[in-house]
Amino acid sequence: MKTDQQLSLLSLREGRDLKTTYISISSGKGGVGKTLVAINLGEILSESGKRVLIFDGDLGLSNVHLMYGISPSKDLSDFIRGFATIDELPVEVSKNLFFISGGSGFQSLADLPKTQLTNLLLKLHEFAEENFHYVIIDTPPGIHKTTVLLASSANIPIVITTPEPTAIMDAYALIKVINKQEGVRDFYVIVNKADNSAEARTVAESLELLAVRYTSARLNYIGYVRYRKNLIRRVIDQSPVDRGFKEELREAVSNLNLDVRAREGFWSKILKKLGV
Ligand SMILES: Nc1ncnc2c1ncn2[C@@H]1O[C@H](COP(=O)(O)OP(=O)(O)OP(=O)(O)O)[C@@H](O)[C@H]1O
Ligand SMILES: [Mg+2]
Repeated sequence: MKTDQQLSLLSLREGRDLKTTYISISSGKGGVGKTLVAINLGEILSESGKRVLIFDGDLGLSNVHLMYGISPSKDLSDFIRGFATIDELPVEVSKNLFFISGGSGFQSLADLPKTQLTNLLLKLHEFAEENFHYVIIDTPPGIHKTTVLLASSANIPIVITTPEPTAIMDAYALIKVINKQEGVRDFYVIVNKADNSAEARTVAESLELLAVRYTSARLNYIGYVRYRKNLIRRVIDQSPVDRGFKEELREAVSNLNLDVRAREGFWSKILKKLGV
């Protein structure tokens, strides 16, 4: 099928039946807690009986599976090489919670030939819309084009920063790029590794000050997660769900309207941006 035919088929399908909400987790600086937030958010959303997929968008440097200590038998690179079908990729980690690994040592999404990329996106679309209420996308750090693409197409783009000035500046840089290049206005901010709520609020306010002055973005601060020195132990032990972390995140998530649906669907936006 030709690409333009695939695209119109996709818009038809999306117009008829849009039920999945896409949440992206991004940051300017690396190591601020995106993967831990994605995993713990997946736990929270799946507890209410919703089916949730964590999609590791850090293609080629995927690490959700490492956090869980699971080595998936099939990942996206197998799908792309024709060694797996899409329904073979999700790994179930707990009731209603699955993840798809982006593969390790694999070239970036943007480098794929267009026909392969379109095929991949269409299959993911079909699979997600039929099987999941939420897709949580863990993106690569920085202003990587995959991050800009995935975050700007999500219904709920979440940006994570820590109190470090470099993390705040890099979060601002990411928001600025997505806002200026892609016209996205609403961002949802979580401050991780904060000492307390006052510090987190100050961090969110300084980020907002920058954004208000230099962009047309609207920053919605939804909450914070405290710095916990035992967390590194959990990561080393490949047990990424921490009760305290999860409860604070749950409070942040309660400030989100999870029913946010964009007028235009996630997948057709991505395909348009890629010019396919
Ligand atoms: N609230 C926290 N308290 C203490 N340590 C934390 C907290 N959140 C994350 N960390 C630590 O930061 C490390 C990085 O976390 P994580 O891998 O989730 O970040 P990331 O943003 O996904 O990184 P990358 O950019 O490399 O993908 C973890 O190994 C963990 O030790
Ligand atoms: Mg990560």
